[in-house]
Amino acid sequence: MVMNAYHLGLSREDLRGAEIVLLPGDPFRVPRIAATLDNDPIEIAHHREFRSALADLQGTAVLVTSTGIGGASAAIAIEELAGLGVRTFLRIGTTGAIQPSVGVGDLIVAAGAVRLDGASSQYAPLSFPAVADHRLVNELIASAVSRKQDHHVGLVVSTDTFYPGQERYDSFTGYVPLSHQGTLEEWKRLGCLSYEMETATLFTITRTMGLAAGAVLGVIVNRTTSEAVDSKVVANTEDRAIQCAAEAVRRLVATG
Ligand code: URA
Repeated sequence: MVMNAYHLGLSREDLRGAEIVLLPGDPFRVPRIAATLDNDPIEIAHHREFRSALADLQGTAVLVTSTGIGGASAAIAIEELAGLGVRTFLRIGTTGAIQPSVGVGDLIVAAGAVRLDGASSQYAPLSFPAVADHRLVNELIASAVSRKQDHHVGLVVSTDTFYPGQERYDSFTGYVPLSHQGTLEEWKRLGCLSYEMETATLFTITRTMGLAAGAVLGVIVNRTTSEAVDSKVVANTEDRAIQCAAEAVRRLVATG
């Protein structure tokens, strides 16, 4: 068992028994998410991309920790949080839709993820599926429904790179290696909803540990119509994903 949360800068005592963690990628979202759960959250650590705050939800400690971008740093956070006693992991992120039916501002509840990350293959062979915990999927759907939030449930594609891995041509060279040309169309044809960068790592690693994970992702761009990301849209969409996850956590804490 890993007991040393060296990268997170946290000890078991710091967590005050928290077994649920909300996981944004961005450290700047940590205070915002913690304040959604508790008027007076406490920041307990900030090392590199890993920022952590504790919220008190009717006497239950809930942790919020940023993972940074991508599977490599998310894997460190997951590993160390599991070692500190966390058992339920809920990712709050953003994503780029690849289906015309998925609107900007909608939410995606990930039921599973395509493993185009590198980190998860060092935990389990690629034939091992990256699937969400069904209870968390249900809670996130219930929460989106109760908030009357347009949402979609399905597969996301988790990549190690934002540009070639997601077949973006608006990059420095403008070139996407042949191995990745045509892949957006392929994942779209196979029914995947969107691209993002951490969910496959989260679902795979937690499965191998017997722990529960879910993910709610706000759609900030639809790649079938535009590559442009609007910062106001991002802020509003992130807020929707945060509210949805916060309500799911309230339900989990209330029902035990
Ligand atoms: N995050 C990603 O990884 N891709 C997108 O298109 C949007 C958010």
